[in-house]
Amino acid sequence: MKFDRSQQLFDRARQLVAGGVSSQIRINEPAPVPLFFDRAVGARMWDVDGNEYIDYIQGMGPNLFGHAPEFIIREVEKDMRKGFVYAAQFERELEVSELALDMIPLEDATVRFASSGTEIDQLVIRLMRGYTGRPKYLKFEGHYHGWMDSVNYSVHPPLDKAGDAESPVPVGESQGMDPGTADGVVICEWNDVEALERAFEQNKGEIAGVIMEPILANTNCIMPKPGYMEAVKRIAHENGALLCFDEVITGFRVAAGGAQEYLGITPDLATYAKSMAGGFPVAMLAGRREIMEILGNGTVYHGGSFNSNVMTMAAAYASLKHIADAGPAFYTELNGRGLHLMDGLKQAAAETESKLHVQGVGSVFSISFTTKPEIVNWRDHARNCDGQMYAKFARAMLERGVRLSSNGRIHMSSAHTDEDVQQTVDAAKAALRVL
Ligand SMILES: Cc1ncc(COP(=O)(O)O)c(C=O)c1O
Repeated sequence: MKFDRSQQLFDRARQLVAGGVSSQIRINEPAPVPLFFDRAVGARMWDVDGNEYIDYIQGMGPNLFGHAPEFIIREVEKDMRKGFVYAAQFERELEVSELALDMIPLEDATVRFASSGTEIDQLVIRLMRGYTGRPKYLKFEGHYHGWMDSVNYSVHPPLDKAGDAESPVPVGESQGMDPGTADGVVICEWNDVEALERAFEQNKGEIAGVIMEPILANTNCIMPKPGYMEAVKRIAHENGALLCFDEVITGFRVAAGGAQEYLGITPDLATYAKSMAGGFPVAMLAGRREIMEILGNGTVYHGGSFNSNVMTMAAAYASLKHIADAGPAFYTELNGRGLHLMDGLKQAAAETESKLHVQGVGSVFSISFTTKPEIVNWRDHARNCDGQMYAKFARAMLERGVRLSSNGRIHMSSAHTDEDVQQTVDAAKAALRVL
């Protein structure tokens, strides 16, 4: 496989764009050079050297229907002829809200729109503080809620810097973060009820709310242990704190009602983004009416020129309408095809006696290399998963026409076919044999 043209363009990019990439994770692609792409349709992508891939990155999640679905193009094309950015209300916004609220289990909720997951998570933290009048919020190690100073802590902290598991310390993921923000965050181990009780005990009356990925897609797609979510909700509420699910990945992906429907539990607030608009940049906060009230009356400020613009609302409308019209079959198929791929990969691992391990829910799951039957939180992942082996595997897969992300997360789309799955499993067997 040749990457000459990508190499030429990347050399040029390095002169123009800091590091040659517009988001840091893109530097880590399994290819020998960050690839440049020419086009993408459905489950497939073609790079500028003419190499074809089955794509499981799918924009890091947004392309729920694969790349460039016709029904979204049609809707956006039609609406954008009426203008792009109004900085005002329009009826489509209400149609999107109605469709979304019909799907989301949260009852008596209202919504607000923004343009990215990072923004909407920043908003929800501000809202939790504003509503309770408390200074801190609690997040878990291994969970990602965007790159803002207030939340970019302890996503994947080196264990020698993270303190002991009993009382983890916040580890900033970047230089240059406002040091004051560390005082506003309480870090806790996930999937551990006692750890959460301890954190509330140590910060009595100070925690405004708890934010978490209800299915931990940013670390090995870890499921909550039975009873854990109910315990988190109870402990948060007993301590006068709010609970927010960050459904930026799981929302509209694991079920129409996201992780709330999948796990059968509702929080007070929930954030959405990636899979909501088939690849267009939309984000949404949904929350109980009484909490959202202080956002509605401006007590908690939220702005944004691009919030709820014509193109993104058209795309969100087309996406949600498509999901609603398809009914439950949409998710049975999407999750089913993902589970089929997970089974195929497990079989490939068994046949080649490799440590390849999969966990997740079908429409989103993770590949790692470990001998443990299950990974339960970030520290477990950091100690027991072989990242170098995964990197070699992803590279070997790329050379066989399968594009995997550098973090091991697989995003299925409704455009992936049984043939794509079979081709991927065959590629995995060949790659694992060589490795
Ligand atoms: C769970 C979660 N929350 C928030 C974000 C931030 O979203 P964005 O990249 O749109 O800013 C991400 C992005 O990967 C995410 O996975």
